[in-house]
Amino acid sequence: MQLPEKLPRHISIIMDGNGRWAKERGKERAFGHAEGIESVRVITEACAEWGIPYLSLFAFSEENWGRPQEEVDALMKLMFKAVANEYETMMRNNVRFLALGNRGRLDPVLNAAVSHLEEQTAGNTGLTMIVFVSYSGKWDIQQAADRMAAEGGSSIEPYLVTAGIPDPDLIIRTSGEKRISNYLLWQAAYSEFVFTETLWPDFRKDSLLAALEEFASRDRRYGKVK
Ligand code: IPE
Ligand code: IPE
Ligand code: MG
Repeated sequence: MQLPEKLPRHISIIMDGNGRWAKERGKERAFGHAEGIESVRVITEACAEWGIPYLSLFAFSEENWGRPQEEVDALMKLMFKAVANEYETMMRNNVRFLALGNRGRLDPVLNAAVSHLEEQTAGNTGLTMIVFVSYSGKWDIQQAADRMAAEGGSSIEPYLVTAGIPDPDLIIRTSGEKRISNYLLWQAAYSEFVFTETLWPDFRKDSLLAALEEFASRDRRYGKVK
């Protein structure tokens, strides 16, 4: 396995296809979400090992609150379990964990556990792993504009929840969908996109490597002439 020379500083993934993965196996959608957590673990460890500075994952959108209550509950339960279980792996891999989004919509107990994990891993100096939860791009721009107006600021960027984090160089979306689904609308201005048919629970190290190879072959021009 040969890692390309030109690597992204920030990889972001729209983790999609858990429901279809479960359906293919005649199982409940929640079964796909649970297997998706295993992909999160593998991909996070790979990024830590390969020296990628930032990995961000779209885990739950503002719109996802509109799913059946049973599925929302299952997702929140899985998130709680992951937050409780991943501490040791994160410490071992020197991972700093951040959760960004409309955090006030989370159950207060889950939100507190998330904050606790952020505090516990704050001193880690390796990979920064960001989980976008209750996040949407329009929500982010709106909350940034509101806070900027209240404070009399003049530039949006420092008010986005991603302030201080470099924009994603590479955005991967799994499961064959080719849309942004209200993800990082502002921050994706010059991101490279890789779409793969692979469903998120099947997305493992080799799939990430393929996306990195695709990224390395791209010519980024930022509107200029080269
Ligand atoms: C992605 O998988 C996970 C979340 C959006 C929470 P989906 O649940 O969207 O799976 P599909 O797209 O229905 O297969
Ligand atoms: C996008 O997936 C959100 C996450 C992966 C968290 P969705 O499954 O919600 O997107 P749509 O509905 O297919 O656009
Ligand atoms: Mg989906």
